Amino acid sequence: MKKVGIIGAMDLEVEALKGKMTVLRKEKRASMEFLEGMLNGTDAVVVKSGIGKVNAAICTQILCDLFEVTHIINTGVAGSLKNEINIGDIVVSTDVIHHDVDVRVFGYPLGEVPQVGRLAFPADEGLAQLAVSCCKEVSPDIAAFRGRVVSGDQFISDRKVKETIIENFQGFCVEMEGASIAHAAYLNQVPFVIIRAISDKADDSAEMDYPAFEKAAAARSAALVEHMLLKI
Ligand code: ADE
Repeated sequence: MKKVGIIGAMDLEVEALKGKMTVLRKEKRASMEFLEGMLNGTDAVVVKSGIGKVNAAICTQILCDLFEVTHIINTGVAGSLKNEINIGDIVVSTDVIHHDVDVRVFGYPLGEVPQVGRLAFPADEGLAQLAVSCCKEVSPDIAAFRGRVVSGDQFISDRKVKETIIENFQGFCVEMEGASIAHAAYLNQVPFVIIRAISDKADDSAEMDYPAFEKAAAARSAALVEHMLLKI
Protein backbone atom coordinates (compact mmCIF):
# COMPACT_ATOMS: atom_id res chain seq x y z
CA MET A 1 0.00 0.00 0.00
CA LYS A 2 1.40 3.38 -1.02
CA LYS A 3 1.61 6.26 1.43
CA VAL A 4 3.01 9.51 0.06
CA GLY A 5 4.76 12.06 2.27
CA ILE A 6 4.41 15.57 0.86
CA ILE A 7 6.74 18.25 2.22
CA GLY A 8 6.59 21.98 1.62
CA ALA A 9 8.80 24.42 3.49
CA MET A 10 6.20 27.17 3.85
CA ASP A 11 2.46 27.46 4.49
CA LEU A 12 1.74 28.70 1.00
CA GLU A 13 3.42 25.61 -0.43
CA VAL A 14 1.11 23.16 1.39
CA GLU A 15 -2.06 25.01 2.39
CA ALA A 16 -4.03 24.12 -0.77
CA LEU A 17 -3.13 20.44 -0.34
CA LYS A 18 -4.09 20.48 3.34
CA GLY A 19 -7.41 22.10 2.47
CA LYS A 20 -8.28 19.37 -0.04
CA MET A 21 -7.38 16.42 2.19
CA THR A 22 -9.73 14.22 4.12
CA VAL A 23 -7.79 14.34 7.37
CA LEU A 24 -7.76 11.15 9.49
CA ARG A 25 -4.91 11.92 11.87
CA LYS A 26 -3.02 14.96 13.12
CA GLU A 27 0.34 14.64 14.87
CA LYS A 28 2.72 17.28 16.11
CA ARG A 29 6.42 16.36 16.16
CA ALA A 30 9.49 18.62 16.27
CA SER A 31 7.12 21.64 16.13
CA MET A 32 5.75 20.42 12.79
CA GLU A 33 2.12 19.48 12.20
CA PHE A 34 1.68 16.29 10.15
CA LEU A 35 -1.73 15.78 8.51
CA GLU A 36 -2.42 12.20 7.46
CA GLY A 37 -5.42 11.28 5.32
CA MET A 38 -6.69 10.82 1.78
CA LEU A 39 -5.87 13.16 -1.06
CA ASN A 40 -7.18 12.37 -4.54
CA GLY A 41 -7.69 8.73 -3.57
CA THR A 42 -4.17 8.23 -2.21
CA ASP A 43 -2.95 7.85 1.38
CA ALA A 44 -0.89 10.94 2.07
CA VAL A 45 0.83 12.82 4.88
CA VAL A 46 1.17 16.56 4.25
CA VAL A 47 3.51 18.69 6.34
CA LYS A 48 5.12 22.10 6.45
CA SER A 49 8.76 21.48 7.36
CA GLY A 50 9.88 25.06 7.83
CA ILE A 51 12.66 26.62 5.79
CA GLY A 52 16.16 25.24 5.33
CA LYS A 53 18.01 21.96 5.26
CA VAL A 54 17.91 21.07 8.97
CA ASN A 55 14.12 21.47 9.20
CA ALA A 56 13.62 19.51 6.00
CA ALA A 57 15.87 16.63 7.12
CA ILE A 58 14.12 16.33 10.49
CA CYS A 59 10.76 16.36 8.74
CA THR A 60 11.77 13.67 6.26
CA GLN A 61 13.02 11.40 9.02
CA ILE A 62 9.74 11.73 10.93
CA LEU A 63 7.80 10.86 7.76
CA CYS A 64 9.93 7.72 7.43
CA ASP A 65 9.91 6.64 11.09
CA LEU A 66 6.48 7.61 12.39
CA PHE A 67 4.35 7.48 9.25
CA GLU A 68 6.31 4.85 7.28
CA VAL A 69 5.74 6.67 4.01
CA THR A 70 6.58 4.72 0.85
CA HIS A 71 7.27 7.79 -1.33
CA ILE A 72 8.29 11.40 -0.70
CA ILE A 73 7.42 14.41 -2.83
CA ASN A 74 8.82 17.86 -2.09
CA THR A 75 6.80 20.73 -3.50
CA GLY A 76 7.78 24.39 -3.54
CA VAL A 77 9.50 27.28 -5.25
CA ALA A 78 13.07 27.81 -6.45
CA GLY A 79 15.40 30.22 -8.17
CA SER A 80 16.23 29.44 -11.80
CA LEU A 81 19.84 28.66 -12.73
CA LYS A 82 19.28 28.57 -16.49
CA ASN A 83 18.42 31.38 -18.91
CA GLU A 84 15.76 29.30 -20.63
CA ILE A 85 14.00 28.40 -17.34
CA ASN A 86 11.67 31.29 -16.58
CA ILE A 87 9.55 32.40 -13.65
CA GLY A 88 6.52 30.11 -13.52
CA ASP A 89 8.25 27.14 -15.20
CA ILE A 90 8.58 23.82 -13.40
CA VAL A 91 11.76 21.87 -12.57
CA VAL A 92 11.50 18.16 -11.74
CA SER A 93 14.64 16.71 -10.17
CA THR A 94 16.90 14.22 -11.89
CA ASP A 95 19.23 14.38 -8.90
CA VAL A 96 19.97 16.69 -5.99
CA ILE A 97 23.19 18.10 -4.47
CA HIS A 98 24.10 20.16 -1.39
CA HIS A 99 25.77 23.24 -2.93
CA ASP A 100 26.98 24.49 0.47
CA VAL A 101 29.04 21.49 1.60
CA ASP A 102 32.81 21.78 1.21
CA VAL A 103 35.20 19.13 2.55
CA ARG A 104 37.61 19.33 -0.39
CA VAL A 105 40.51 19.65 2.04
CA PHE A 106 40.15 15.91 2.74
CA GLY A 107 39.68 14.92 -0.89
CA TYR A 108 35.89 14.98 -1.18
CA PRO A 109 34.37 16.64 -4.23
CA LEU A 110 32.68 19.98 -3.57
CA GLY A 111 29.12 19.26 -2.37
CA GLU A 112 29.77 15.76 -1.02
CA VAL A 113 29.05 14.99 2.63
CA PRO A 114 31.92 12.81 3.89
CA GLN A 115 31.28 9.09 4.26
CA VAL A 116 27.81 9.11 2.70
CA GLY A 117 29.31 7.57 -0.43
CA ARG A 118 27.78 9.83 -3.03
CA LEU A 119 27.76 13.41 -4.24
CA ALA A 120 24.32 13.50 -5.90
CA PHE A 121 21.13 11.83 -4.71
CA PRO A 122 19.14 10.43 -7.66
CA ALA A 123 15.40 11.04 -7.74
CA ASP A 124 13.02 8.18 -8.41
CA GLU A 125 12.60 7.83 -12.16
CA GLY A 126 8.94 6.76 -11.98
CA LEU A 127 7.94 9.71 -9.77
CA ALA A 128 9.90 12.15 -11.95
CA GLN A 129 8.30 10.88 -15.17
CA LEU A 130 4.88 11.04 -13.55
CA ALA A 131 5.53 14.66 -12.54
CA VAL A 132 6.48 15.67 -16.08
CA SER A 133 3.48 13.93 -17.66
CA CYS A 134 1.12 15.42 -15.06
CA CYS A 135 2.55 18.89 -15.72
CA LYS A 136 1.65 18.50 -19.40
CA GLU A 137 -1.90 17.59 -18.38
CA VAL A 138 -2.42 20.20 -15.64
CA SER A 139 -0.58 23.13 -17.23
CA PRO A 140 0.01 22.38 -20.93
CA ASP A 141 1.28 25.93 -21.53
CA ILE A 142 3.99 25.67 -18.86
CA ALA A 143 7.46 24.34 -19.57
CA ALA A 144 8.59 21.44 -17.36
CA PHE A 145 12.32 20.77 -17.22
CA ARG A 146 14.05 17.72 -15.80
CA GLY A 147 17.38 18.50 -14.23
CA ARG A 148 19.55 18.83 -11.19
CA VAL A 149 18.27 20.66 -8.13
CA VAL A 150 20.87 22.18 -5.80
CA SER A 151 20.24 23.24 -2.22
CA GLY A 152 21.91 25.23 0.51
CA ASP A 153 21.05 27.30 3.54
CA GLN A 154 21.22 30.51 1.54
CA PHE A 155 18.77 32.57 -0.50
CA ILE A 156 20.67 33.23 -3.74
CA SER A 157 20.18 36.80 -4.94
CA ASP A 158 23.53 37.72 -6.39
CA ARG A 159 24.61 37.11 -10.01
CA LYS A 160 28.19 36.18 -9.07
CA VAL A 161 27.12 33.66 -6.40
CA LYS A 162 24.63 32.19 -8.88
CA GLU A 163 27.32 31.83 -11.55
CA THR A 164 29.67 30.06 -9.14
CA ILE A 165 26.92 27.59 -8.20
CA ILE A 166 26.17 26.93 -11.90
CA GLU A 167 29.87 26.42 -12.66
CA ASN A 168 30.35 24.04 -9.72
CA PHE A 169 27.17 21.97 -9.94
CA GLN A 170 25.38 22.48 -13.30
CA GLY A 171 22.04 22.86 -11.48
CA PHE A 172 18.73 23.78 -13.10
CA CYS A 173 17.37 25.49 -9.99
CA VAL A 174 18.42 26.41 -6.46
CA GLU A 175 16.43 26.18 -3.25
CA MET A 176 16.91 25.50 0.47
CA GLU A 177 15.53 22.02 1.30
CA GLY A 178 15.69 19.52 -1.57
CA ALA A 179 19.15 18.07 -0.93
CA SER A 180 18.47 17.30 2.71
CA ILE A 181 15.12 15.67 1.82
CA ALA A 182 16.91 13.67 -0.88
CA HIS A 183 19.77 12.84 1.50
CA ALA A 184 17.42 11.62 4.25
CA ALA A 185 15.22 9.72 1.77
CA TYR A 186 18.35 8.05 0.36
CA LEU A 187 19.53 6.95 3.82
CA ASN A 188 16.05 5.51 4.48
CA GLN A 189 15.79 3.97 0.99
CA VAL A 190 12.55 5.80 0.26
CA PRO A 191 11.97 6.96 -3.35
CA PHE A 192 11.61 10.73 -3.73
CA VAL A 193 11.23 13.55 -6.19
CA ILE A 194 11.70 17.31 -5.83
CA ILE A 195 9.23 19.49 -7.73
CA ARG A 196 9.80 23.23 -7.86
CA ALA A 197 8.12 26.11 -9.66
CA ILE A 198 10.38 29.04 -10.42
CA SER A 199 9.75 32.19 -8.36
CA ASP A 200 12.87 34.16 -9.34
CA LYS A 201 16.12 33.94 -11.25
CA ALA A 202 18.47 33.76 -8.22
CA ASP A 203 20.19 36.97 -9.37
CA ASP A 204 20.11 40.63 -8.41
CA SER A 205 16.40 40.83 -9.31
CA ALA A 206 15.48 37.93 -6.97
CA GLU A 207 14.84 40.22 -4.00
CA MET A 208 12.07 41.94 -6.03
CA ASP A 209 10.81 38.94 -7.99
CA TYR A 210 10.52 36.45 -5.14
CA PRO A 211 7.79 38.28 -3.16
CA ALA A 212 5.93 39.05 -6.40
CA PHE A 213 5.88 35.49 -7.75
CA GLU A 214 6.25 33.09 -4.79
CA LYS A 215 2.50 32.65 -4.22
CA ALA A 216 1.60 31.79 -7.81
CA ALA A 217 4.65 29.55 -8.17
CA ALA A 218 3.92 27.67 -4.92
CA ALA A 219 0.31 27.11 -6.01
CA ARG A 220 1.41 25.82 -9.40
CA SER A 221 3.77 23.25 -7.89
CA ALA A 222 1.11 22.12 -5.38
CA ALA A 223 -1.50 21.73 -8.15
CA LEU A 224 0.91 19.46 -10.00
CA VAL A 225 1.50 17.32 -6.91
CA GLU A 226 -2.25 17.09 -6.31
CA HIS A 227 -2.72 15.76 -9.83
CA MET A 228 0.11 13.24 -9.38
CA LEU A 229 -1.77 11.64 -6.48
CA LEU A 230 -4.58 10.70 -8.85
CA LYS A 231 -2.18 8.57 -10.86
CA ILE A 232 0.51 7.39 -8.48
N1 ADE B 1 13.81 29.61 -3.24
C1 ADE B 1 13.24 30.40 -4.17
N2 ADE B 1 14.14 31.20 -4.73
C2 ADE B 1 15.33 30.93 -4.14
C3 ADE B 1 16.62 31.46 -4.28
N3 ADE B 1 16.88 32.43 -5.14
N4 ADE B 1 17.61 30.94 -3.49
C4 ADE B 1 17.33 29.97 -2.62
N5 ADE B 1 16.12 29.45 -2.44
C5 ADE B 1 15.12 29.91 -3.20
